[in-house]
Amino acid sequence: MSYSKIRSAQTSAEEHYKITNARLEKIRSHLTQAPRSNKLKDKVCVITGVGSLKGIGRATAILYAHEGAKHLYLLDYDPQNLPNLKSTIEKSYPDVKVTTVQGDAADEAVIAGLCKQALDEEGRLDVFFANAGWASKDTIQDATAETFNRSMRINALSCFLAIKHASAAMLKTNSTRGKETSGGSIILTASVAGIRSGAGTLDYSASKAAVNSMAKTAPYQLQKTDIRVNSICPGLIETGMSAATFDYARSRGTDGKIGQLNPLGRYGVPEEIAKAALFLASDDSSYVNGQNIAVDGGLSSSHPVVPGRWA
Ligand SMILES: NC(=O)c1ccc[n+]([C@@H]2O[C@H](COP(=O)([O-])OP(=O)(O)OC[C@H]3O[C@@H](n4cnc5c(N)ncnc54)[C@H](O)[C@@H]3O)[C@@H](O)[C@H]2O)c1
Repeated sequence: MSYSKIRSAQTSAEEHYKITNARLEKIRSHLTQAPRSNKLKDKVCVITGVGSLKGIGRATAILYAHEGAKHLYLLDYDPQNLPNLKSTIEKSYPDVKVTTVQGDAADEAVIAGLCKQALDEEGRLDVFFANAGWASKDTIQDATAETFNRSMRINALSCFLAIKHASAAMLKTNSTRGKETSGGSIILTASVAGIRSGAGTLDYSASKAAVNSMAKTAPYQLQKTDIRVNSICPGLIETGMSAATFDYARSRGTDGKIGQLNPLGRYGVPEEIAKAALFLASDDSSYVNGQNIAVDGGLSSSHPVVPGRWA
C-alpha cells in the first residue's frame, strides 16, 4: 500500500481526537481495574517532586503503592498537597507505609538525611526516583546567569545528590531486613529536551542533557554493585508544569492539535511515565542500566519529516 493510501485510510482529525480522549481516560483509570501484582514488594523507595496534584511524581507514588512498596518516602518543597497524597495512599493501600517530607531536592543535607532516615527506619533503600524539576521560560537574551544556575541546580544537581547519597545507602546490606547483597535502582527524570533541541529553553535542555549524561556515567562508577541508574525522558505530558500550555490551547479550542508532532499524534499523561518508572524500579528491569529511555510517543526517534514526502 502506498504511503498516500495509508494516510487516506487514517481517521479524520476530529475522530482521532475523540479516540485519543477515550484512550487517555482508559489509561488514567487503569489503576482502579488493575489487580495488584506486588512488583515492588519489600522495596523501600524515595520519590522527589510528588507535590503537584497533576504531576508525574504523585502518579508514580500511587502506582508504587499499588504495586506493594514497603515504605514510600515522598518529598516536595511545596508542602500544600503532601497530606492529601499521604491520606490518598493510606486509604487505598493501608499496607504501605508513607512518610512525606517537605524539603528541597537540591539540598545535600536534605537528601543525605532522607537516605539516612530510610536506612535508620527500614534498614535498606531500594529505589530512588529523582523526579523533582523546574522549567524556565526565558529565551536566550532574557535568560540570566541566575536562571541558568537555577535550572542546573534544581534539575541536575538534585540528580547528582540522589545518585551520590542513594547509592551509598544502596551499598549497605542488612540480612535481618532481607537485603543480603548491595543493590537498587536510581531513576532520574530527564526529558526529550535533554536528547535534542526544540523541547525546552536552553538552560532547561542543558540541565536535562546533564541528567542523561549522569545516567550513563554513574553505572561505571557503581560497577558490580547491582545498583542500576537510568533516566526517563518524557515527551509532552499534561502535568502542573505544562498546565499553562494546555489551558491556553483549550481556551482557543486547539487542544486537539496538542502532541501532533509525534507518531502517536497525542500528548501523554503522568500515569504513562509512572509505568516506565515502575518498570525501572522493579526487578523486571534487572538488566537495564545506563540508559536514557524516551517515553514520548516516538517524538525523539525521528528527524523532522513531512508526512507523505516519501510516498
Ligand atoms: N510535563 C512534561 O511535559 C515533562 C516533560 C519532560 C520532563 N518533565 C520532567 O518531569 C519531572 C516532573 O515534572 P512534572 O511534569 O510532573 O511537573 P509538576 O510541576 O507537575 O511537578 C513537579 C514537582 O516538582 C516539585 N519541585 C520542583 N523543584 C523542587 C525542589 N527543588 N525540591 C523538591 N521538589 C521540587 C514541584 O513542587 C512539583 O510538585 C520534572 O523533572 C520535569 O522536568 C516533564
